[in-house]
Amino acid sequence: MTTLQVIDLTVRRSGPRDSPAAVDGVSLEIPSGTTLGLVGESGSGKSSLAGAIVGLVPVQGGQVLLDGREIRTRTVRDRRRLGRLVQIVLQDPDTALDPRMTARQTLVEGATVFRRLDRAARAERVTELLGLVGLDPRLADRLPRQLSGGQRQRVALARSLSVKPGLLIADEITSALDVSVQASVLNTIRELQSQLGLSMLFIGHNLPAVCHISDVVAVMRHGRIVEIAPTETILRTPRHPYTRTLLASVPSLRTSLPGQRSS
Ligand SMILES: Nc1ncnc2c1ncn2[C@@H]1O[C@H](COP(=O)(O)OP(=O)(O)OP(=O)(O)O)[C@@H](O)[C@H]1O
Ligand SMILES: [Mg+2]
Repeated sequence: MTTLQVIDLTVRRSGPRDSPAAVDGVSLEIPSGTTLGLVGESGSGKSSLAGAIVGLVPVQGGQVLLDGREIRTRTVRDRRRLGRLVQIVLQDPDTALDPRMTARQTLVEGATVFRRLDRAARAERVTELLGLVGLDPRLADRLPRQLSGGQRQRVALARSLSVKPGLLIADEITSALDVSVQASVLNTIRELQSQLGLSMLFIGHNLPAVCHISDVVAVMRHGRIVEIAPTETILRTPRHPYTRTLLASVPSLRTSLPGQRSS
């Protein structure tokens, strides 16, 4: 479990000098073992923020602290430590998975810890990881093209869990999936939260889906967080007009949220 603190973070992407910052002075905290949902329109800076947290996108100002320590990406050792603490899963499993590697190979490659295990222990760990993400272990020897989109996304998720990260960042991981598959992947995420006690940054633009699995929701617009509050508050008494717009665009929200998470 890992606590994330983002303090006054500014990220500028390449482009014209006077273009606005992709992330403009954002501060937030994800206490250990909790999930923060991040919503906002396309281009609002969600992925830039995620990229900055994992050290993939350079930061122009502010700080990212994991368990109170500033992230460092300068040396191989720094990057290894960061990779053990934080993992990111992206929208498109097709580009994230090597088409020539079976699920088993993908998982074994994902974790250097595997190298110390013998064959039987490796097989056991692969089965365990597939089980965690709701995949039948008999799929272990399939290639990505022999799996459905939802199954591929689960393999990518399992790989990110193989290093036992304290913080998982999920950036639109269900956006490319069919609605019914989305719901089932979201349920898997909820199970992972309770089984592993993961801290999570869950990015999406479907507000009900994000609320379903988040303790706190942050609404981002034009690089800034315009509202951040416990999920219940966002749903019942949203304060910012933009949040209300997001809620209004989903009329059946209250009835479509069975078993909403109480925080
Ligand atoms: N690789 C890049 N190079 C230059 N500019 C980028 C890059 N990626 C994103 N941007 C710009 O940064 C800003 C924020 O984009 P970002 O991808 O962080 O938004 P987002 O909220 O994740 O959007 P989406 O919902 O479409 O994924 C946008 O103006 C975008 O054009
Ligand atoms: Mg994005």
